[in-house]
Amino acid sequence: MYNCSLIKFKDIADKYGHLTPIESKIDIPFEIKRIYYIKGVEQGVKRGFHSHRKLHQVLICLNSSVKIRTKNPNEEAVTELNDPSVGLYIGPYVWREMFDFTEGSVLLVLASEYYSEDDYIRNYDFYLEEAVKRYK
Ligand code: TYD
Repeated sequence: MYNCSLIKFKDIADKYGHLTPIESKIDIPFEIKRIYYIKGVEQGVKRGFHSHRKLHQVLICLNSSVKIRTKNPNEEAVTELNDPSVGLYIGPYVWREMFDFTEGSVLLVLASEYYSEDDYIRNYDFYLEEAVKRYK
């Protein structure tokens, strides 16, 4: 899907466990300015429902699983994240919804910019209006 892709990170596994390194601009296509994580999401709760204008993000489910619906004016996909050595890259002008957070899930997000509410488009109709120009 345009502006959306899975990234497989290294999984350094030995008898002591697993280690996944992620280096800014090497393992992901941008410099990380911010990280945040989402946990404690009750069953049935959905999050997201927005797009960003400039922001690039990588979503990594560190524990349990979560599903991510991504949309643009022409395409829609659902990706289940359940492996901490896999990230979902989401670029600008991709609508995202997060759902089916399972018990104990922790969703880590790596972001290319500091938090800015002005970068969000939280209304789907407004999103379509801005996005159609970019997806012609
Ligand atoms: P939001 O991005 O809407 O969460 P989600 O898409 O997962 O449902 O953010 C939820 C709230 O947290 C909102 O009030 C903005 C605030 N927030 C910050 O203050 N800093 C941040 O880096 C992020 C991502 C959100």
